[in-house]
Amino acid sequence: MKGKFITFEGCEGSGKSTHVALFKEYLDRNGIDYIFLREPGGVSISEKIRSIILDVENKEMCDRAEALLYAAARAQLITEKIIPALNEGKLVVVDRYIDSSFAYQGYARGLGIDFIEKINSYAIDSCMPDKTVFLDISPKVAFERKGGADKDDRLELSGIEFHERVYEGYKKLVEKYPERFISIDPTGTKAETHAKIIESIKDILG
Ligand code: TYD
Repeated sequence: MKGKFITFEGCEGSGKSTHVALFKEYLDRNGIDYIFLREPGGVSISEKIRSIILDVENKEMCDRAEALLYAAARAQLITEKIIPALNEGKLVVVDRYIDSSFAYQGYARGLGIDFIEKINSYAIDSCMPDKTVFLDISPKVAFERKGGADKDDRLELSGIEFHERVYEGYKKLVEKYPERFISIDPTGTKAETHAKIIESIKDILG
């Protein structure tokens, strides 16, 4: 495959959405051809799967079904968009990918890394990112930095302990895949963090 593949990962409140948006603006400004996708979703079938997974009414969904649905949404996205774009030599940028499954389902939900690896080996067909930008801030610290949040905040809804486990999961992944992961400390200003991200992946942008 000729193109490059970059993913963004981070916990809730890490500023991932902001930095993904700034990164896209940077690519636009510099005339770099890319496609941007988000997970779960990105194509019609995967967006439908997304609405099943994220539907708060689906309380009875078991953890394995959830993990398999994420993998199914990923398989469809890869087949329809990611592989064709990489084959055309395009830069592919994805907001969340397999590492979210490792951290959320494998680690925080306790399904285990092996289980996630196994089901995703069917889904991704060895299509791994060249680089993964991880915004390295714990949900607790992010939450405190914001001065707490209102009662609708998702951290309040699903419990800070779960998100702390997600963070621990990410830290283990960074240790396991040091070549692929780029950990960025997002506690400076937005502009500083953005500059760090660009600096760290400039090489692969060509
Ligand atoms: P989204 O609203 O896109 O959140 P964010 O802005 O934080 O990316 O919701 C995606 C949610 O799906 C998020 O809570 C993380 C979760 N998720 C998993 O648990 N496993 C996965 O494999 C993926 C891709 C996402």
